[in-house]
Amino acid sequence: MSQSYLQQSEAVRARFERLKAREVILEVQGLGKAYAAPQGQVTALKGIDLRIHRREFVCVIGPSGCGKSTLIRILAGLEQASSGEVLLDGQPVTGPGKDRGMVFQGYTLFPWLNVLRNVMFGLETQGASRHEAQAQARQWLDLVGLSAFAHHFPHQLSGGMKQRVAIARALAIQPRILLMDEPFGALDAQTRARMQAHLLEIWKNIDITVLFITHDLDEAIFLADRILVLKAHPGEVQELIEVPVPRPRSAAQVGSPEFQATKARLEALIHPPQAASDAAAPDDVVPHLIRFTHVSDNVE
Ligand SMILES: Nc1ncnc2c1ncn2[C@@H]1O[C@H](COP(=O)(O)OP(=O)(O)OP(=O)(O)O)[C@@H](O)[C@H]1O
Ligand SMILES: [Mg+2]
Repeated sequence: MSQSYLQQSEAVRARFERLKAREVILEVQGLGKAYAAPQGQVTALKGIDLRIHRREFVCVIGPSGCGKSTLIRILAGLEQASSGEVLLDGQPVTGPGKDRGMVFQGYTLFPWLNVLRNVMFGLETQGASRHEAQAQARQWLDLVGLSAFAHHFPHQLSGGMKQRVAIARALAIQPRILLMDEPFGALDAQTRARMQAHLLEIWKNIDITVLFITHDLDEAIFLADRILVLKAHPGEVQELIEVPVPRPRSAAQVGSPEFQATKARLEALIHPPQAASDAAAPDDVVPHLIRFTHVSDNVE
């Protein structure tokens, strides 16, 4: 029989025990969110409970519309919950704060500031002197490998580089937790893989807890200690999976039995077999194909 995602090696089990012995940084209790919509009320989130430990890396996956972005916006304090509570270091989250860094999918750098000034921005708004902000920003750029691009402007950078600047900018204010909403979603596959490895390297070196939203199952398994799987309508916790793949992670692990077992479980949760038959077109519907061309020599 093939391996189960619940099977953990001794080393992985011991690592999870050490991780769970750490303090809880973020606690979400009975979190719910309802939106008023023209067709009535939409329950985006319902009864979400979650505890994230210090320096843990948690990924959130789930079908489109299951409330992932809503969850992260509430954690960021950009939106109010309808019910429940969010505690960061035991303190209720009531609005945005410098204890949380954010990185989104869209490139959110200030186009009129160069890379260095983008990273300095948060530091200066927090009262650091120009000199101090510059020195610290340079260190963060060094960490993301972009020291040589300090004086470039965002439009002169590739997508991956822009996201590295966004990560440096989010980390520069030294948040307790980094909230990332599909940060690599717009990158090509190769750049994305490089960014994942790079993010793990950064995470290893600094005291930061990460909550990372993604659609990509491989990305979630590669990055996470635990994966929170949400289901849609309403967005509820379906399962919280402990990833049995040992650290340090490498691309070579993708084919490993632990990796494949986790992926099979995620696929079963996110794309259950009946969903495929529901989505199938009934037999009597004949699709109308549009012809865009008159060439009819049957080459295609
Ligand atoms: N401001 C809003 N007003 C009304 N409904 C909203 C609002 N924001 C989100 N919703 C609804 O809440 C649900 C969850 O949306 P959310 O953006 O959190 O999903 P998501 O999981 O991030 O989706 P995706 O994977 O496509 O990014 C959806 O049904 C969405 O239509
Ligand atoms: Mg979203």
